[in-house]
Amino acid sequence: MKAFRIPRLLQFVLVPVVVYAVTRLIFDVLLGQLIPASLMTMYMFFVLAGTFMAFTFTEDGTRELVAPIKALVEDPSRKWLRNVVFVVLPLALGFYTYQLRTPKPEAPLELRSIHPAPPSTVKAYDKRFNLLTLENPYRKLQKEDPEAFAEMVAAGAAVYIENCQYCHGDKLDGRGPYAQGLNPVPANFQDVGTIAQLQESYLFWRIATGGPGLPKEAAPWISSMPIWQDFLSEEETWQVILYLYDYTGHAPRSWEHE
Ligand code: HEC
Repeated sequence: MKAFRIPRLLQFVLVPVVVYAVTRLIFDVLLGQLIPASLMTMYMFFVLAGTFMAFTFTEDGTRELVAPIKALVEDPSRKWLRNVVFVVLPLALGFYTYQLRTPKPEAPLELRSIHPAPPSTVKAYDKRFNLLTLENPYRKLQKEDPEAFAEMVAAGAAVYIENCQYCHGDKLDGRGPYAQGLNPVPANFQDVGTIAQLQESYLFWRIATGGPGLPKEAAPWISSMPIWQDFLSEEETWQVILYLYDYTGHAPRSWEHE
């Protein structure tokens, strides 16, 4: 009886596999060392090349090595196996590659704080404002001089249409024509979760300093909100704030009501 011998093709496959396993075992488990993937790839390339040379050194050896492959392609009785190897295998590999390549939606690693705590003072218009005491200078007109107040709101509306609606939308719902391309999306002022929760001084800070003025905890996403102190006067900023509350019907949060 012929002694059992591992087929040459299987030997050819097994040598690199065993070399790989032993190398990983020595480094990962015994030495506790990490091997760079690029180094391992290079090493395995030489192992493969060496194995190939050794296995194809003689003509007989080469013939024995490729015999199963030749049989697979030529032998009529192996039709079924051929179908598996040449149809199912490429399909499976293709599917695997597809799975590997398709991007998966993933939550951002860090959660962004949408309304981070404001700094106590903010530098804008070459001045320093104390956000704890800062108030909208025109808010008092609402009671004292409703006509002048309405004019201020109208001026704010003009500022808004000219500058803000592209992102925040002409209905102030955060759905301006640019909104779809932005992440994070522009604030929806109609939502009770935005300006209705905030003081006017907070809005002044956010509008004057924009996305770049946000503290670190709000920064993992890059806000496209512009730095409006570069484009609007201090007066215009307060006016547009009046307009945001007037249009949406929200009341700004204030110290007295808390
Ligand atoms: C280029 C697009 C863009 C324009 C134009 C823009 N914004 Fe924004 N704005 C954003 C984005 C995006 C956010 C949300 C991210 C953030 O909080 O910075 C935002 C947030 C805000 C917030 C913070 C709201 C909250 O709940 O914290 C205020 C207030 C605001 N914008 C006011 C304005 C005003 C007023 C104008 C016009 C003078 C304006 N924005 C123009 C993109 C824009």
